Amino acid sequence: MTSAEWMELEEISQLKTYRKWPISLEKGSGAWVEDTDGKRYLDLYGGHCVAFLGHNHPAVVQAVKDQADKLLFYSNAVYSPARARASAALAALAPKGMGNIFFINSGAEANETAMKMARKATGRSGIVAMEGDFHGRSLGALSVTWQAAYRKGHESSFGPVTFVPFGDAEKTCAVILESKPAAVIIEPIQSTSGMRTAPVSFFKAVAGACKEAGSMLIMDEVQTGVGRTGAFTYSQVVGIEPDMITLAKSLGGGVPVGAVLISDEVAATVNYGDQGTTFGGAPLAMAAVEATLKALVDEGLTERSVQIYDLFEKGCTERGLRVQGAGCLVGIDFGRPMGVFVTGLREKGILVGGSADPNIMRLMPPGVLTDEEIELFFTALDQVTALAMEVVS
Ligand SMILES: Cc1ncc(COP(=O)(O)O)c(C=O)c1O
Repeated sequence: MTSAEWMELEEISQLKTYRKWPISLEKGSGAWVEDTDGKRYLDLYGGHCVAFLGHNHPAVVQAVKDQADKLLFYSNAVYSPARARASAALAALAPKGMGNIFFINSGAEANETAMKMARKATGRSGIVAMEGDFHGRSLGALSVTWQAAYRKGHESSFGPVTFVPFGDAEKTCAVILESKPAAVIIEPIQSTSGMRTAPVSFFKAVAGACKEAGSMLIMDEVQTGVGRTGAFTYSQVVGIEPDMITLAKSLGGGVPVGAVLISDEVAATVNYGDQGTTFGGAPLAMAAVEATLKALVDEGLTERSVQIYDLFEKGCTERGLRVQGAGCLVGIDFGRPMGVFVTGLREKGILVGGSADPNIMRLMPPGVLTDEEIELFFTALDQVTALAMEVVS
């Protein structure tokens, strides 16, 4: 069957919630994916920020195959060597004092778990979230997600939630100290909003206000975590000690898994039965987590993420384009609507993403990206820019 035929077949029975790109992918390796017609794409989108190791990392594939041969599934009712090894590997990389781990299946569930733990630990219910944040699409995670396009119609499902301007330390700290919420949740690099971030001083001020108010600080590191932004977590990059950190996306190297890293203090408030999940911590995902974390460290991908950002920044600056973000989360501000560049690059075999800001393109490349592959992006971008100029003139 051709790509067009595969797409047609999928459309017949798929609920229409996604406006998909007109490609049907079948294979992947490293920074590259291939469609059902055999056309290859350089993937700077990473299947939505998942493929930090690159696609189909051989060690992850092997670990999953080995585990599948032994035991596909058993729940948290029992112990599992795969879970024991994955927990130890993740605890070893977690910030100090945050080695208490709850595995779950997705980013939204990780955030909901963290907010639930915060309510339990504080006996309070309010949450402070940032304007521009994205935390997931289930009802609780949606309640603290800013964009109206996602949240509209579901505002009252969780509450009380107060949104504050991201980066405005004075206002945010005043709200925290006055309302004393159960938790403050922050997406430290707001990916969906176009890789917006805030100064280190903002994060430090908010962490201080949370301590003073007795509120839990939750860092949503679903995208920034797992070594993508210059340290294992972005909390370490900005030098704060939150109470909980949520992870997902690249944690399983492509296998669905999320986790909450929980401080010793919060862990001490948790009792048996406070949270549960059937599939979270299951052997297949755990084998993938262990292999992913080992590859991340062995291949120095965290260090490489910083070089990759610098190379994109240099190329963009040379072309008069501003960048924002960190590591392998790169927002490129075109200063004008850039949808035509996303489409133009895709036609040239390069996958990139848009954002809630029509001027900002998002790149979520893998840490295995080479200098030559970055050059390919800029060559294609120059060609698309020249074409766009022709159309305008
Ligand atoms: C920062 C952030 N938090 C949470 C989520 C939700 O994760 P999931 O789609 O795995 O539920 C996402 C997903 O894009 C995200 O980018």
